[in-house]
Amino acid sequence: MKIMSVVGARPNFMKVAPIINAIKKHNSEVEGTAKGNSPGASQTIQHVLVHTGQHYDRRMSDFFFADLNLPQPDIFLGVGSGSHAVQTAEIMRAFESVLLQEQPDILIVVGDVNSTLACALVAAKISFDSLGTRPTIAHVEAGLRSFDRKMPEEINRILTDHLSDLLFVTEESALRNLAHEGVPEARVHFVGNTMIDSLMAYKEKAAGSPILDKLGLRNGTTGGSSIAPYALLTLHRPANVDNRDAFLNILNGLQELAATCPVIFPAHPRTQQRISEFDLGRYFSRERDGSAAIHIIDPLGYLDFLCLMKHANLVVTDSGGIQEETTCLGIACVTVRENTERPITLTSGTNILAGVQESGIRDAVKRQLGSARRTQVPEKWDGEAGVRIIEILLSDGNAKILNDIEHLP
Ligand code: UD1
Repeated sequence: MKIMSVVGARPNFMKVAPIINAIKKHNSEVEGTAKGNSPGASQTIQHVLVHTGQHYDRRMSDFFFADLNLPQPDIFLGVGSGSHAVQTAEIMRAFESVLLQEQPDILIVVGDVNSTLACALVAAKISFDSLGTRPTIAHVEAGLRSFDRKMPEEINRILTDHLSDLLFVTEESALRNLAHEGVPEARVHFVGNTMIDSLMAYKEKAAGSPILDKLGLRNGTTGGSSIAPYALLTLHRPANVDNRDAFLNILNGLQELAATCPVIFPAHPRTQQRISEFDLGRYFSRERDGSAAIHIIDPLGYLDFLCLMKHANLVVTDSGGIQEETTCLGIACVTVRENTERPITLTSGTNILAGVQESGIRDAVKRQLGSARRTQVPEKWDGEAGVRIIEILLSDGNAKILNDIEHLP
């Protein structure tokens, strides 16, 4: 069986790594012993990793390959940045010939970035032969909905789900959303969260990161055990940082926090561009200088970021994945958005929505700093999602489901 998986942007890497590891584990078991009773379970998997190049800076891509021990991509499309239309179109153009050449049995796409939609769309319309044979399309992290179509990711999520044959979901809300949209139940599998698989696999290793010392966040001598209280900030959503007034509102909402404790801000390259374009440099400092300026640094690799997240008193973010990671780590999170496609982080996790207005952000920060930490890890966020996905892809029962799907209305 040949499986192709696609990565493109930073949040994809930690979602694909556990799937690749599950494939390796399966192959070594098959090579070692005869495995399972179903025909699929006894065959090895040939895996092809495609990187679209949507993210290309070393800090947005290479660091993650190294930290997550990912194999180098077999195929690199080198697409780079562009408007949504141009980026999506360029990925589609480049990916079509790769798909025709490789002809995988299964295509795995993850998350909600432009690379996810572009590759799913190519695969849904491709024909390997005159019978119209095409790969089975599997979407990992399916069914999440913010119900905000102004978010490019929401468009990517909806369309990718409706192009996919198999939908692997991370939380119950996704099951409800997909049922509501008429996606046949037989296609949908609640497997857990591959990003959390990576978190669990690398949590211990991240403890060895030198980042706390580098940023001067340890009290006393280097390597001492006492860590100064600090907050961690990420902001990159176009709605938050591409408009000066919106960005300014958020920064003003964080002033009180920055006066109380260091706020460490590993900033996305586009966010850094906006800070200089909008002349907002006065809110930030490149060094920790004792002032209330936010301490801006370049984007971090996976292990350094995980270490910073694990020891933070508070995380303030507009990212999707960080809401889930903080929930799993039991770290209080303030999400600077009006909505979330990950409601489990609100109902049983450590996340609250602050909105994007100054006063809402200030209040949410106060509430979170004053609250005791809750640590209820959502169902099936147990480090085994990658293994479950590969088991489902291999099961012969599933092959039957796929054949039936062709005849569904
Ligand atoms: C993308 C995803 C977003 C995800 C985010 C994580 C889409 C629609 N958006 O947003 O869901 O949360 O990645 O980071 O797919 N840039 C660089 N170096 C890079 C990559 C980008 O400097 O390696 C700059 C460029 O100016 C580029 C801009 O960032 O134009 C935007 O990059 P793009 O890939 O379009 O989207 P992100 O904002 O990174």
